[in-house]
Amino acid sequence: MIFDILTLFPDMFQSPLDSSLLKKAREKGLIEVRLHNIRDYARGRHKVTDDYPYGGGAGMVMKVEPFAEALDAIIRERGRAPVVLLTPQGEPFSQRLATELAVHPRLVLVCGHYEGVDERVREHLIDREISIGDYVLTGGELPALVIVVALSRLVPGVLGNVASISSESHAEDLLEGPQYTRPDEYRGWKVPDVLLTGNHRNIEDWRHRESLRRTLRKRPDLLEKAALSEEDRKIVEALKKEG
Ligand SMILES: C[S@@+](CC[C@H](N)C(=O)[O-])C[C@H]1O[C@@H](n2cnc3c(N)ncnc32)[C@H](O)[C@@H]1O
Repeated sequence: MIFDILTLFPDMFQSPLDSSLLKKAREKGLIEVRLHNIRDYARGRHKVTDDYPYGGGAGMVMKVEPFAEALDAIIRERGRAPVVLLTPQGEPFSQRLATELAVHPRLVLVCGHYEGVDERVREHLIDREISIGDYVLTGGELPALVIVVALSRLVPGVLGNVASISSESHAEDLLEGPQYTRPDEYRGWKVPDVLLTGNHRNIEDWRHRESLRRTLRKRPDLLEKAALSEEDRKIVEALKKEG
């Protein structure tokens, strides 16, 4: 998958791109991240990318022309791809949305800064708006990285263990249950017996029940949209009675 990222601060991406999963995925050629400095597309000797808001008000607004010209250049070189503006006003990012976006071979991510972008960027240059949460950051760089990591994990071959994706939190609108590793006892804190039995059927049943229990306790809202079987619903009712 290829990500074209428009940003005023390309340096902010270097360390995450050179570490851990993104580094390996890039080395294997499974993802490519192309950073485009918006300033390179600004006009004039001073390469100004922001200006005062019409009508007055606090802060500076990012100008429309550098975004338009950067996007024109990307389209000329690579062809069209969905263009996403990172903004706290966008559709909330989720695992479901990550799965939806991961089908695209390419994605263009547009990072705002300062007070945000001239409204004409929103009206004429982008296809969708995404927020990573109900809080305001300084720029779209960290949100863009969040999207790159979440989508890269879904690219075939990036994760060693593909099976883990389907049992992870949010994959089925459920949280993943508890996980343990060696030793089986530490300071008297024991690993649940069922996990040491080697009985895979019982282990799977236990994990599923714990996943339902954890979701009920921590994120009962998720259970409303999860595709629960009749058996799951009975388990949830029993767990509610357990308190
Ligand atoms: C300080 S914010 C601008 C907020 C804007 N004035 C508003 O009230 O909607 C600057 C930039 O950071 C990015 N940003 C901030 N918070 C974000 C969030 N929760 N999700 C995605 N992008 C965000 C956006 O690209 C935004 O243009």
